[in-house]
Amino acid sequence: MKEKTKKTEIKPVEKKGVSKVHAKTPAPSKSKKLQANNVIGIIGAGKIGEAIISGLLDQKVKSRSEIIATAKSARRAAYIKENFNIACNNDNRELINKCGVIILAVKPQVISSVLSEIAPHIKEGQLIISVAAGVTTFFIESFLRSKNPVIRAMPNLCCQVNAGMTAFSKGSNAGDEHVETAIKLFEPVSRVVVLEEKHLDAVTGLSGSGPAYIYIAIEALAEGGVKVGLPREVATLLAAQTALGAAQMVLKTHSHPALLKDMVTTPAGVTIDGIMELEEGKFRVTLIKAVMKGTERSKELVKV
Ligand SMILES: NC(=O)c1ccc[n+]([C@@H]2O[C@H](COP(=O)([O-])OP(=O)(O)OC[C@H]3O[C@@H](n4cnc5c(N)ncnc54)[C@H](OP(=O)(O)O)[C@@H]3O)[C@@H](O)[C@H]2O)c1
Repeated sequence: MKEKTKKTEIKPVEKKGVSKVHAKTPAPSKSKKLQANNVIGIIGAGKIGEAIISGLLDQKVKSRSEIIATAKSARRAAYIKENFNIACNNDNRELINKCGVIILAVKPQVISSVLSEIAPHIKEGQLIISVAAGVTTFFIESFLRSKNPVIRAMPNLCCQVNAGMTAFSKGSNAGDEHVETAIKLFEPVSRVVVLEEKHLDAVTGLSGSGPAYIYIAIEALAEGGVKVGLPREVATLLAAQTALGAAQMVLKTHSHPALLKDMVTTPAGVTIDGIMELEEGKFRVTLIKAVMKGTERSKELVKV
């Protein structure tokens, strides 16, 4: 179950009971009208591409005939086609011809070659949403022959279970209507925030990579349970549900995590002993450094 919450620096904009975070006041639209084509094309149906496809179908945002995808290998394309019953092959040009919105979900290392391949075929008005880490809207725009709207998005894997987190920023030719289109695609499968592009590397280091850090924490907690005698399956359930519940407490109560932590920590009780171990093991600073490293890495992935 998704929870919606307010955040940080920026001006929350309420819509349909949902708080979204917009970077400053969005600039007026400069862009051309979107093509009246409901088909979305996902170039690069890998892990995140699959998570997006799965979420969009699960939440009935799109029908099977409204999603097409490509992968590099025939094997991957066949897997996507069979599992989701959508069109999927390795023909990026055909995909471009058929869709109004193009989601770029290839690795940053191949984004240049994919953009070089597709740019000559992109039509005016097609919206491009890139989820590639570290790839700026400026970089993408530099390949395009028309002034297409470009949105940079950073979702995470949890879109697959409709509990993702996605941040958006818009390129120089994108207007609010394009951000809205992107939000409509991702909101059913994730919380959404709209930020200035300068924040997107930090988002990548935090919520983009973050599920991996939480999985490690869950795995380690479960190992702890096993060490003190719990069956592994039970220990994993306890650890995962505890992570989920703790996150929901933060989102639902809007309390500072430190206050919630204090509520669990009875004086001279059990939890404070565990916290001492975490502090000795530099748990807190390690997580801070993980986010910093991820942010730095995102910045250096693709240089213009
Ligand atoms: N994984 C995440 O949690 C996550 C979260 C946020 C953003 N992202 C971003 O999403 C992008 C993809 O990451 P990923 O983890 O999903 O990687 P991935 O699993 O390797 O997926 C990349 C996909 O791109 C396909 N591909 C490669 N070259 C292609 C081409 N020329 N035309 C069409 N498809 C092509 C690959 O096909 P084959 O499978 O046939 O090789 C593969 O399916 C990256 O830019 C990453 O930064 C990932």
